[in-house]
Amino acid sequence: MRSHYCGGINESHIDQDVTLCGWVHRRRDHGGVIFLDLRDRDGMSQIVVDPDTEDSFALAEKVRSEFVLQIKGRVRRRPAGTENANMPTGQVEVLCKSLTILNAAATPPFPLDEHSDVGEDVRLRYRYIDLRRPEMLNRLRFRSKVTSYIRNFLDRHDFMDVETPILTRATPEGARDYLVPSRTQEGSFFALPQSPQLFKQLLMVSGVDRYYQIAKCFRDEDLRADRQPEFTQIDIESSFIDEEGLMGITESMIRELFADQLDVKLPEFPRMPYSEAMQRYGSDKPDLRIPLELIDVADLVESVDFKVFSGPAKDPKGRVAALRVPKGGELSRKQIDEYTKFVGIYGAKGLAYIKVNDLSQGVAGLQSPIVKFLGDDIALAMMERVGAEDGDIVFFGADKTTVVNEALGALRVKLGHDLDMLTCEWSPLWVVDFPMFEEDSSGNLTAIHHPFTAPSCSPEELAANPATALSRAYDMVLNGTELGGGSIRIHNEDMQQAVFRILGIDETEARAKFGFLLDALKFGCPPHGGLAFGLDRLIMLMTGATSIRDVIAFPKTQSATCLLTQAPGQVDERQLKDLHIRLRKAPAVKGANPEAEKKED
Ligand code: AMO
Ligand code: AMP
Repeated sequence: MRSHYCGGINESHIDQDVTLCGWVHRRRDHGGVIFLDLRDRDGMSQIVVDPDTEDSFALAEKVRSEFVLQIKGRVRRRPAGTENANMPTGQVEVLCKSLTILNAAATPPFPLDEHSDVGEDVRLRYRYIDLRRPEMLNRLRFRSKVTSYIRNFLDRHDFMDVETPILTRATPEGARDYLVPSRTQEGSFFALPQSPQLFKQLLMVSGVDRYYQIAKCFRDEDLRADRQPEFTQIDIESSFIDEEGLMGITESMIRELFADQLDVKLPEFPRMPYSEAMQRYGSDKPDLRIPLELIDVADLVESVDFKVFSGPAKDPKGRVAALRVPKGGELSRKQIDEYTKFVGIYGAKGLAYIKVNDLSQGVAGLQSPIVKFLGDDIALAMMERVGAEDGDIVFFGADKTTVVNEALGALRVKLGHDLDMLTCEWSPLWVVDFPMFEEDSSGNLTAIHHPFTAPSCSPEELAANPATALSRAYDMVLNGTELGGGSIRIHNEDMQQAVFRILGIDETEARAKFGFLLDALKFGCPPHGGLAFGLDRLIMLMTGATSIRDVIAFPKTQSATCLLTQAPGQVDERQLKDLHIRLRKAPAVKGANPEAEKKED
């Protein structure tokens, strides 16, 4: 139906006859001549319809935004002075010889020009129209190029693409499972995979040796800008390999991908132990573009009267840390109040600060609500500890270590952006030496990565000191986002049982849930390890999008619904009966409370 894409017309086509198909982006009536900007996935061409072509002109008068047209015409140079340097096709236009309306279009729910500021819920509801916007279409195109590049890279390195089941058993990655009731086995449920983790390990037992899959994963967890309930991993596993091998090949993949697709030469990937990342940045995914660090001051304030500081300073699970912000002294009271509110999101009960006006005046040169509680010597000792200079502000967090890390870690990133402190565009790193376990709120140990991650010690040492044992896990972090995570796995049944025991999974439960894995470990399981990248996050970073929803064709809202299809939906009584399900409460009628159904971003 067409000879060229609208975006593909240029000076080399001058005097050629072309046939274009696309949507009417804009129609302008210039006293006797009608200009149409015709758009398709490659871009836009200007079509000129003049009254000499009577039939076409009559049709062009009827045409509205988003009508679908076929245009036959001749490419010509735009008259001098009317070129558009901002458009790749801006030197030329197509003089229309015939116009066919292939389909009319109702007025779109929002205009498609770049500047239109429309709510995301409307965009998601009419996603197929939203995706017509060049910005969105270009992201989808970019995503397709990236997956193609990655497949190619992994194929070249002898990785084999193997599909694994979607209807399966629970694959623990720390989130809730999406369950699918079985019709044939009353009262039984499939779980959708949180990742292909167990299957990829079984493929290593099978001798696949090097596996990859661009795999859909499902996690019922609290959603944020960088999380979706259904997302895509670039999932990788290899046998007979150690950390160096895995980190080496996956780092090369990311490095070559950035060079090829963005013409970006990524800097070195430093390696940072988890403990150092938490200490210096309060985060296991530090954004190293921001030159601010947390500095411990607990030892200085252990015996002050100010309980807000001395309490956590004496608590083995507490932390008192300072964050010095060069030139932050200019922050207003109102801004400081806003930052105090901000750290409150992370559970901080306040945000103490000291403004450094003039150090040469000693304490008189400090401006702060807390200096009077600390005493002059300690206030000055803290200034020395953090290397304060005139014009700085120093913030303090004092609480349980987890609260201080989360609050000051997030504040550090926010200040970095608000005060324009980013030192470079790309800052990757590997975070290594993760602990095997962490304590949950009820004091039980849970796996930091997943329970199949190998510890760096023997099963006996692990059993003796589980809380301090380190794992052979590694995360790749880019600009403060965890891009991917993986580990060397346990390939020995005794070690796997030891880990299950520490996690409070006894032998009966281990057999019931993971018997197939424990069996497989008996039948000649090779040493192996792997990693999975979050594809959506990778594309988000590479395209500069602010949310992963913007790089997924049909994403879900923060409340895990699809506004386009209105999923999840209700099912009729007969379907429920087939699945042996009776609802405890009649479902709320959809649409009865549209406000509550809106996404709560
Ligand atoms: P992990 O749980 O760390 O590891 O996941 C790997 C990567 O997947 C991405 N990711 C997500 N992206 C969008 N929305 C989500 N809800 C979401 N959850 C995770 C992140 C993360 O780094 N099986 C292991 C990998 C392994 O050990 O090989 C796993 O799934 O970018
Ligand atoms: P208060 O004595 O509660 O008025 O607090 C005095 C100062 O300490 C205020 O600036 C508070 O914002 C700050 N503050 C209170 N609790 C904390 C905390 N847990 N960590 C850091 N600063 C705090």
